[in-house]
Amino acid sequence: MRDTRATDRQQGLEVLDMKNLIAGNWKMNGTMGEAIKLANSIVDAIQSDAQLLEKNDFLVCPPFHHIVPVEAELTMAVNIGGQDCSPFDAGAYTGDISATMLKDVNCSYVILGHSERRSYYSESNMLIKQKAQMANEQGLTAIICVGETETEREAGQEQDVVATQMLESLPEGATADNTVIAYEPVWAIGTGKVATIEDITAMHDFIRAKLAEKLEGADKVRILYGGSVKPANAEEIFAVANVNGALIGGASLKAEDFVGIAKAS
Ligand code: 13P
Repeated sequence: MRDTRATDRQQGLEVLDMKNLIAGNWKMNGTMGEAIKLANSIVDAIQSDAQLLEKNDFLVCPPFHHIVPVEAELTMAVNIGGQDCSPFDAGAYTGDISATMLKDVNCSYVILGHSERRSYYSESNMLIKQKAQMANEQGLTAIICVGETETEREAGQEQDVVATQMLESLPEGATADNTVIAYEPVWAIGTGKVATIEDITAMHDFIRAKLAEKLEGADKVRILYGGSVKPANAEEIFAVANVNGALIGGASLKAEDFVGIAKAS
């Protein structure tokens, strides 16, 4: 296994051994019955392998109306979160779910600014920042997603795009406790294409450096990689020093694959 952490240690660089966050974004998939079955299978697979919890924290983010029944099946080992939240707290906002409501049903995380929301619903950095602010005020950890399109990468703009998305979406008072960054290159989502290890390393190092300009304790902020993560490619990805977990779409819908990814960390 490529272990860039070991290399960094040899070079005297500080390496923080934080647990990987293995996060499943279930997106808009499945019936209630399927969601409950998936939750049960994940819990069973994790419970039968004690070492998994030493190295990983787990999170699942089902569709809103599956949160309560899924949460009832989960053990303390698996956190639950939303896939989005409103920038408002309460009131006449048809179709919205507030951070307060997520907190009320035991969510501890919320995914914000996913590229699907940025592109299909034209979510701006400003809106994502407002949502993150609400999430943090309610004690939720905001997973702020960033990532360039293929065209932007081909034009060599990937770092500028990611830096702008991240810095403009981060709320005031963001800390390592209430913020996670997920780097998901848009062209790698659901396509089977994965960024190269060199590209992932370069972008995660860049994100860490940009965070350090903005936040205290930036070295403790988890930076997840997302985009076609599978059991077969997870080991290499997790070996990158500034990768602190994965945000998983398709493979999170099969307990075996989701837990298989965690086993690679
Ligand atoms: P895939 O794992 O299906 O590529 O999706 C990644 C993603 O969008 C997670 O948020």
